[in-house]
Amino acid sequence: MINMNTEMNTNAMVKSKRPDSCCFVLFGASGDLAHRLVIPALYNLAEADLLPERFCVIGATRSGVPTQALHDDLMAALNKYATRPVNQATANRLFNCITSIRADPSEPGSFEHLKAQLDGLCESDIRNHLYYLAVPPAGFKPISEALAGVGVLDESDGGWRRLVVEKPFGTDLASARALNRDLLNLVDEHQIYRIDHYLGKETVQNILVLRFANGMFEPIWNRNHIDHVQITVTETLDVGRRGNFYEATGALRDMVPNHLFQLLSLVAMDPPSLFDAHSVRSEKAEVLAAIQRQTEQETLRNSIRGQYRAGRIGEREVGDYRAAKDVETNSVTETYVAMKLAIDNWRWAGVPFYLRTGKALKAKRTEVVIRFKRAPFSMFRETEVERFSQNDLVIGIEPTEGVTLQFNTKVPGPQVVIDGVEMKFNYKDYFKVAPATGYETLIYDCMIGDNILFQRADSVEAGWQAVQPFLDAWKKAGAEGLCEYKAGTQGPDAADDLIQRDGRRWRSLAGT
Ligand code: BG6
Repeated sequence: MINMNTEMNTNAMVKSKRPDSCCFVLFGASGDLAHRLVIPALYNLAEADLLPERFCVIGATRSGVPTQALHDDLMAALNKYATRPVNQATANRLFNCITSIRADPSEPGSFEHLKAQLDGLCESDIRNHLYYLAVPPAGFKPISEALAGVGVLDESDGGWRRLVVEKPFGTDLASARALNRDLLNLVDEHQIYRIDHYLGKETVQNILVLRFANGMFEPIWNRNHIDHVQITVTETLDVGRRGNFYEATGALRDMVPNHLFQLLSLVAMDPPSLFDAHSVRSEKAEVLAAIQRQTEQETLRNSIRGQYRAGRIGEREVGDYRAAKDVETNSVTETYVAMKLAIDNWRWAGVPFYLRTGKALKAKRTEVVIRFKRAPFSMFRETEVERFSQNDLVIGIEPTEGVTLQFNTKVPGPQVVIDGVEMKFNYKDYFKVAPATGYETLIYDCMIGDNILFQRADSVEAGWQAVQPFLDAWKKAGAEGLCEYKAGTQGPDAADDLIQRDGRRWRSLAGT
């Protein structure tokens, strides 16, 4: 344990207080998530003076790597993945408070050592424990049970005990329910922090502020004025070496009930009465629960599954999905999904939500498009004007971080000619933000006990409930209905048909 008090504060994160003293127990300390994101995020927090004054990290691994070896390993990871140049003094301060321990859930006895260490810390007044499970989902239950077994999840001594887990939360509705049940047998809901890394993105958090801190959007944010909503999360990345994981997962499970539904719920929720975790999370859960259940026939009609074939993305040649490592040669796993959903409530009745996500596509693009209804054309009937362009409000998450409003304007000249133009707000033009991992806010919020950005059990289940009919229908359909698309394109043609049959179009992935 070291004193993290320091005069250096070079980070642009605007947070006001340092969290209470705590011990950060990092399971999977030698794994990918810890290397790429958790340690660099802790470093950024250290640099911003946002770690507790009395703070320590216990890196827990099944094999029990010696502390020095763990330091060397994590330092190499920090140098590789840091989002800004590493200040050695800050890194040393952080690393001085990292120790290593062996904790193997298949040998629950090994957790006694962890308990002894934590008990020792209590004597030096570090009573709060954050257990970060940076491990595959199969580890969530055994690790939590082993922790509960030695009594270190119990809050009755006045210290807080928090469990942090990261998606996937189950692979379908039944397994998500079982996982929630297992965790809630051991701890209370307020102790569980379920991370969806999309909620660590500033632009995603900004959706709430855009909608509810501005008086002009809410009055028109409903079926009377909005024609439809498009949610796009496309990637140029192919499956790479993740074939094993991806074969069992597919684009729908990997992206929709979590990341795309986070965007959907922020865009579609009703205004919460308070900006607190209970109110915000209740509204989000409510809107997810209102996603209309579709029959098997409807799901097949309202969804498109695609799988990429060899192609070129920019200068990069991408092989066929079925030729990727650990992928079956006759795989029917989808690498692309497009779907049309309806939300059964007064605000959204009759407003379709079109979602699409996929790998090996033309562009990396995460955005939400709110397309407003067209103005009545009648007034321009006798003029040269042939048509209006769309009024789109585009919330750009990646790579463009900002908000764009498209509207019609008169082209200068003697005739009435109308063209579509854009009003743009780009984060980088207004704010100077130090590059971050996206985990800083999430980890900081865990430490201060603010769970507004974390998923509650009911919304996880509501998300799975909405996608379960698609999973079932596709499983039954097998290869039938699986479309192909060439890597580097905008996805299968059938996805265009899905939206075009309603007289609408996807926003193009070309350009910005
Ligand atoms: C992860 C998925 O949750 O999100 C990956 O498992 C995907 O397959 C990633 O590539 C996308 O995240 P981002 O932040 O790059 O859009």
